[in-house]
Amino acid sequence: MISRKLLAWLGDTLRPSTIGKTATRIGDTLNNIQRATTMSSQASGNSPFPWTDSYLLGYPPMDDTHREFVDIVDEMLKSDKQAAALMQRFSEHAERHFTQEREWMESTEFPAAGCHADEHDKVMASVKGVLEQIAKGDISNALPLAHALKDWFPGHADYMDASLGQWMAKRRMGGVPVVLRRNILSRDDAASDRA
Ligand SMILES: [Fe+2]
Ligand SMILES: [Fe+2]
Repeated sequence: MISRKLLAWLGDTLRPSTIGKTATRIGDTLNNIQRATTMSSQASGNSPFPWTDSYLLGYPPMDDTHREFVDIVDEMLKSDKQAAALMQRFSEHAERHFTQEREWMESTEFPAAGCHADEHDKVMASVKGVLEQIAKGDISNALPLAHALKDWFPGHADYMDASLGQWMAKRRMGGVPVVLRRNILSRDDAASDRA
């Protein structure tokens, strides 16, 4: 026998307005699941160093270059068969990347240019050293360097490139950048997603 309480509950639940609300809630839940799945696949896949929009700094020319940096290092981490070609590709990227940032700093008299350029120089010295080893047939340091680049980039981008990016955006775009991040997965989430 169905109790009065249960009948009252069923009546309430089956009212058209309630069904509408429930359907909306289910729809929202499905959307959230879909969004989470999309973000998860964007950030993980088989990428050891996935791009996330948390790296965006709001100065588009710099953001484009940084996306290229992440993509190449990701390739280096995934494939040791093409170590020589990928290290050469990274070296050419880094040369362009660091030269571009140096020119921005010099042309606008950016105040903290010295220590920023020092970090770039240290990276280039390591890359050249590993390239010399590769030329002699030794690729043993290619993968460790790729890991070091992956560890180095977020800190450098947050502390050095972010201030340069804001500085450049103010000068070239007339204001502090508003960063629109589509993929809101944090770097920690991206990392744990890969584990
Ligand atoms: Fe940079
Ligand atoms: Fe930099």
